[in-house]
Amino acid sequence: MWGIIATWRMAHEGILAAKELLVKERSAGDAVETAIKCVEDYPYYKSVGYGGLPNEEGVLEMDAAFMDGDTFAIGAVAGIVDIKNPISVARKLSKEKFNSFRVGAGATRYAQAEGFEQKEMLTERAKKIWEKRVEEVAKHQLDPYDGHDTVGVVALDELSSMAAGTSSSGLFMKKSGRVGDSPLSGSGFYVDSEIGGAAATGLGEDLMKGCLSYEIVRLMGSGYSPQDACDQAVYGFSEKLKKRYGKAGAFSLIAMNKEGQWGVATNVEFTFSVATKETEPTIFIAHPGENQTTVIEPITQEWLDAYEKRIKAPI
Ligand code: GLY
Repeated sequence: MWGIIATWRMAHEGILAAKELLVKERSAGDAVETAIKCVEDYPYYKSVGYGGLPNEEGVLEMDAAFMDGDTFAIGAVAGIVDIKNPISVARKLSKEKFNSFRVGAGATRYAQAEGFEQKEMLTERAKKIWEKRVEEVAKHQLDPYDGHDTVGVVALDELSSMAAGTSSSGLFMKKSGRVGDSPLSGSGFYVDSEIGGAAATGLGEDLMKGCLSYEIVRLMGSGYSPQDACDQAVYGFSEKLKKRYGKAGAFSLIAMNKEGQWGVATNVEFTFSVATKETEPTIFIAHPGENQTTVIEPITQEWLDAYEKRIKAPI
């Protein structure tokens, strides 16, 4: 069996590319890295890699992580700047016994020294969106924070190995040095090849309060299906947060187990892409349902057309 699942419609082309590897018995790690690189490289996705939106100072600081579900090896970067593919740097770091999570200048210097491709990652379009936002925030006294869609991927290969990865430019207009859940093990991602894996997208500050990726893997390990584990972890924690913290930010989780079964749960409208040996790559849309369940439907052409228009709309 092989399978791969990823957050948001933006991951679909990456899933198509990763599928081509998985059918040829390439590793789950290669599939995760390939899928995420596709998202990092596409200039119209404004929350990941090239074209991502910057912090309040206009600097694009990126976070990424990679985890090998066979060995538990993890590599991560936070606040890395002007490196084309942060996910590849994170994967390389996962091979290091020490110093495997690098932040800020240390992360960027590591990537440069290791020969990873350097690139000016702030596009003219992203700069324009930032300039407009700075003006609006000053004029209307707005809450500056907006947008935090991470690409998170979990893959299973024909040899039953699993891997997970994330990549994000984090919260738009974040303070310099702010780090979200995406590079944090247990919050943004977690995978154990003997159980399954999970990954998150949404407000990092809230996701890290619940360690939801680890919680979903733990629940799958105690016998829950991926869907039941996602429902239990996401809706249970969202309620708890509202009661004890006063509010819960938007968040969505994806999961796949070692049999290639998958699940998602979300407290907002959420799209995702999935492919397995038995299911063609498909984009779905999910909403929170009644009694802590998730409603999942195939995406419509109207939704896809409107999305295409929205991401390419003039600034
Ligand atoms: N989930 C991405 C972030 O909050 O940075």
